[in-house]
Amino acid sequence: MRSFAASNSHMSAVHGLIPGGAHTYAKGDDQYPAGMAPVIEHGAGCRVWDIDGNEFVEFGNGLRSTTLGHRFEPVVNAVRDHLDLGLNFVRPHRIERQAAERLVDLIPSAEMVKFGINGSDSTTAAVRLARAYTNREMVAVCRQHPFLSTDDWFIVTTPMSAGIPKAAQRLTVQFNYNDLTDLDRLFETFPGEIAAVVLEAETIEPPAGGYFAGLRRLCDKHGALLILDEIITGFRWHERGAQFVYDIEPDLCAFGKGLGNGFPISALAGRADIMRLGGFVDDADRVFLLSQTAGAQPWALAAMLAVIDTYQDGHIAERLHKIGARLRRGVEQVVADAGLSAHFLLKGRDCNLVYAALDGQGQPSQEFRTLVLQELLERGILAPSFVVCAAHDESAISQTIDAVAGLMPIYRRALEGGIAGVLRGRSVRPAIRARG
Ligand SMILES: Cc1ncc(COP(=O)(O)O)c(C=O)c1O
Repeated sequence: MRSFAASNSHMSAVHGLIPGGAHTYAKGDDQYPAGMAPVIEHGAGCRVWDIDGNEFVEFGNGLRSTTLGHRFEPVVNAVRDHLDLGLNFVRPHRIERQAAERLVDLIPSAEMVKFGINGSDSTTAAVRLARAYTNREMVAVCRQHPFLSTDDWFIVTTPMSAGIPKAAQRLTVQFNYNDLTDLDRLFETFPGEIAAVVLEAETIEPPAGGYFAGLRRLCDKHGALLILDEIITGFRWHERGAQFVYDIEPDLCAFGKGLGNGFPISALAGRADIMRLGGFVDDADRVFLLSQTAGAQPWALAAMLAVIDTYQDGHIAERLHKIGARLRRGVEQVVADAGLSAHFLLKGRDCNLVYAALDGQGQPSQEFRTLVLQELLERGILAPSFVVCAAHDESAISQTIDAVAGLMPIYRRALEGGIAGVLRGRSVRPAIRARG
């Protein structure tokens, strides 16, 4: 059995220093089997090493941000070169023009762009702009899309909404994905009140034919803006975003994560007649739009430019799909060979695979998810999902498929003899929950 002694000692110490023991809930040790939450020392490509010296093939790298893999040299070198020029100045740096021109050129719906640090900066700025532009206060968010922002307008929809004023609850309403009737009903219930419809293009369920055209029509009919969250889909579905893949026409869109391959850079982009409200205007009230001390620093924009070059030269999005498809085929085969296809399923687009661990009744089970994590970790695979990066090579993929094959007899034992006999400790829990 692997040792996690150093990681466990680290985690015991930091729980008294950092609420939750991590700075992002998705990284929390509650997301991993008890005593098996590795604390990372360093990473390279698709692999990471923990402070006990364990090596893992990692999936969902950098919360899906390091799409090119860790320590990807062209991006790291672009940043390194910029560090020598200074980090942050009292006036804009010349790279800001090049970065804006490049992004506007790349993203189909982008006429203007403003850069930020985190993805939430951009989605939240989009919501504020939409509220100002439409002179309305409510936003409609997609019920099936798990995360759109760290800010009140979104977190109020989660079970973890302590600290958010009650008044915020009234301002965010939810609609079901792929269901235009449901959204239309929402518009009819709150006539003239909804400023924007916010969603991702796709998470697990693919869009139904005509969905986005219908969404566009509904938004136009009811005078609301369409905000597309491309924080995961951008630089994963395609460097031009899922809007390019599905021919979506958002008014505003938000990019983050893969935009900087792990460096903190995000972008709000969209229609010039809306974005201009964040600028110098005298025919409307000005919107306070993404004005940050650490925003759009030259080295972060240099990272973004190196990422765009790499994607365009190396057909990276295509590669992500191919690697994911290879992993999906291999995993589905070993699961089918074990006769467990009804219990361990892969879902989502090939470039963004997640797994579902189902119990004997075919229900999603946190205990079975814990068992999967436990057995994969033991076999050198750190996989809260099977979301690939471009650095997953054949040896990493076949190691993962072998690990799933090794998991299968244990999964069967758990189904037949009860999970308590094979699970070493407590179960994982949803990252966003009300208590505990
Ligand atoms: C789809 C989506 N939108 C927005 C965000 C927020 O991005 P950030 O964590 O960079 O603020 C996330 C983060 O996971 C996300 O997955």
